[in-house]
This record gives sequence, C-alpha cells and structure tokens, in this order.
Amino acid sequence: MSLGGGRGGVRHLYVHLPFCGHRCGYCDFVTLVGRAGEHGRYVDALLAELELERAALAPRLETIFLGGGTPTFTSASELARLLAALPAADEVTVEANPETVTPELAVLLREHGVTRVSVGAQSFRPHLLAVLERHATPAAVRAAVYALRGVGFDNISLDLLYGIPGQSAADLERDLSDALALEPEHLSCYELEAKPGTRFTHTFGNELARQAEAMEDYFERVVDRLTGAGYRWYETANFCVDPEHAEGRDLRARHNLAYWRGRDYLGIGIGAVSTVQGRRRRTTPRLGAYLAALDRGEEPPRELEPLPPSVQRRERVLLGLRLDEPIALRGLDEAIDLAALGRLERLGLAERTRGGDAGESVALTTRGRFLGGGVTAELLA
Ligand SMILES: C[S@@+](CC[C@H](N)C(=O)[O-])C[C@H]1O[C@@H](n2cnc3c(N)ncnc32)[C@H](O)[C@@H]1O
Ligand code: SF4
Repeated sequence: MSLGGGRGGVRHLYVHLPFCGHRCGYCDFVTLVGRAGEHGRYVDALLAELELERAALAPRLETIFLGGGTPTFTSASELARLLAALPAADEVTVEANPETVTPELAVLLREHGVTRVSVGAQSFRPHLLAVLERHATPAAVRAAVYALRGVGFDNISLDLLYGIPGQSAADLERDLSDALALEPEHLSCYELEAKPGTRFTHTFGNELARQAEAMEDYFERVVDRLTGAGYRWYETANFCVDPEHAEGRDLRARHNLAYWRGRDYLGIGIGAVSTVQGRRRRTTPRLGAYLAALDRGEEPPRELEPLPPSVQRRERVLLGLRLDEPIALRGLDEAIDLAALGRLERLGLAERTRGGDAGESVALTTRGRFLGGGVTAELLA
C-alpha cells in the first residue's frame, strides 16, 4: 500500500542497494553477492518504485541516503543512472566499501551530486580485518579516503567496529589513531554485534558474550579518544568534528538525525523500511518478487505495521535520548516514568531542563549516556 496519499511532506529518502562483492560473516543486512546481470533491472525497479511513491515526498528533500549492501559495488553506469534520476537534496550520502572506491568512482559520485561518503573501514589491523572477512586492506581504506579528498569531498565518514574477537585495547587505540590520521569529518564506532543466524555468530558468539563486560571500557576509550581529538559525541555511536574546529559547519549526519528525531522517512528497494504518518512499512527482501511486481507496474510485497501513538512516543524517547540534545517532555509524559526520572536525576544519570516555549525537556548526562540503553529502559513507563 502506498504511503503517499498526495500529502507530500516526507523530506528524507533511503535507497537500498543490496549488491556486495562478497558476504562478510558478521553481516545480516539485506545483501546479494554479485548479480551483475541484475543491477540494471534493479535500478529500473527502484525508479519505478520512486514514481509510485513520489506523492509522499516533499518538493524539496533534505536528505537522501544510499545504503546497502555496497552501493558502490553497483555497476558504475547503473549507479550513475540512479543518482542522475533521484530528486535533489541538501545532503546526499553514499555508503562505500574501500576496495570499490577508485579515482573514477570518486569522480562519478562527485559529478552526480553526492555530498557525503561513508566509508566502511571497520579496522586498520590486518589480523582483525581477516577475522571480519573483509577484503579491503588498511592501505585500501587510506587510498579510498585520498581518492575522495582528491576530487573535493569535504564530508567523509568512517565506520569502525570494536569488540572484534582478538582485538586488544591497544589494537583499538591504534585503530582510532589511524582513523583520526585521515581527518574524517565524521566517525561511526559500533560495537560488533553477534547477529543471529550469521556464520560469525556460529563461530564467535560465545567469545562475544564472554567479552561483553570489557566492552563498557572499550566504549569509554572510544568516546574519550574522539572527544579528546575535538569530535562531538552527538549520538551514542556517532561523532563529528566539532563546529568550532570546522569553521562553524554542523557535520552531524543529517539523514540519521532525522531517524533519531522521529521524522518521517521513505525507504525504497528490497528490505527497505519507511515510517510515514504513524505507519511503518517494510518491503520484501526477496529480489525476484520485488522485480516482478515493479515490472508489472505494481507495488512490491510489503508488510505494514501501524504505530499506535504509545509506540511512537516510546520510540521517540528511545531514539531521542541517544542524542546529546534534550528531548521535549511535552506530549511524551505518558511514555516516561516520572518517578524513575527523579531517581535517575538524583543518581546524576539524567537531567531535566526547564523553561522556554518548549517547556520541560530531558537529556542523559555523560554518565547516563555511557550506560545508555539501561538508563533509557528504566525511564520508560
Ligand atoms: C549497511 S553496513 C554496510 C556498509 C558497507 N557495505 C561496509 O561493509 O562497509 C553499515 C555499517 O554497519 C556496521 N555493521 C554491520 N554489521 C554489523 C554488526 N554485526 N555489528 C555491528 N555493526 C555492524 C558496519 O560498521 C558497517 O559499516
Ligand atoms: S558488511 Fe558490507 S560488504 Fe559485508 S556483506 Fe554486509 S553490506 Fe556487504
């Protein structure tokens, strides 16, 4: 079912490009290996789906995010055709695997309106990249960043993982130093998760469970090192160069900020999720069914989930408290246990601010943010 209804207010578009050169053992995203012969048909289907959904979109988009999979593994001519056909937006991000970022690809992205590239570095230690089954060497990560810089990209993000089996605290410190040496505008640092059903979890699941406690220390190291280097810890796992070191630029990921702030977004492609006007929709992850439906000019199979206001409020609290900005309490009081909030304030884990037109608002303190999910769970009514 279309989410459009002709209202046209959605300002954030996610486009899923599922193809990858190989499948990394720890990954459970909707991905397909190779399939070069199907890239063109997939882009046709994406553009057909976009047409079906266009009425939901605002005349001017704020952000577009091409995620995967490995968007930059999509054959170059098809990626160019897709980028050329997408609406304009203030921020256009593309996820890239280092080994796919050639100087030619960098030019293609630059010439097709991409403003931001998110490079999946994951680690700079060869033995850890091997554990992750990554194909990019540390040299390839650096070469990718240089190629992007070479054509003028001034908003590059690096993804790093910590908690990789065999990763010592010293390995983590070296990974952070190597990432910082590339002077990225933005860094995402995720704790490696054991995703159910993956090869990785089969092999390393017990080890990840054993090291879970050490991860609090690793998380603190990440935050200390990056904030010490002038980065703003603006979301649990995300950091950007502080505006005062960036000529006043706000380098937060605008697309992801929209998710964390509970804005509506439209997702197209297999497995893509949309949330519009209190309804969530997930498109089939099956390529065949997706292509066949759009070939016929029909909507692809989708699951629709209504989001009652109580669920929306809880999500708003869960996501909003990941940020370093307060969330307004107005309208959320039913989702928040005020007695628990009082307790957390006394423990120095949450902070209420009063006044202004927005009324009262709440944020986690630095200590509260380190404890993260546990504190938020306690706050929920
Ligand atoms: C959609 S993925 C793919 C991006 C790109 N294909 C790559 O591999 O670099 C985006 C990010 O999610 C993170 N990620 C993937 N699997 C993860 C896992 N099991 N636990 C934690 N983070 C994960 C990685 O840091 C990755 O860069
Ligand atoms: S981690 Fe990235 S490259 Fe590896 S399978 Fe997942 S999406 Fe593809």
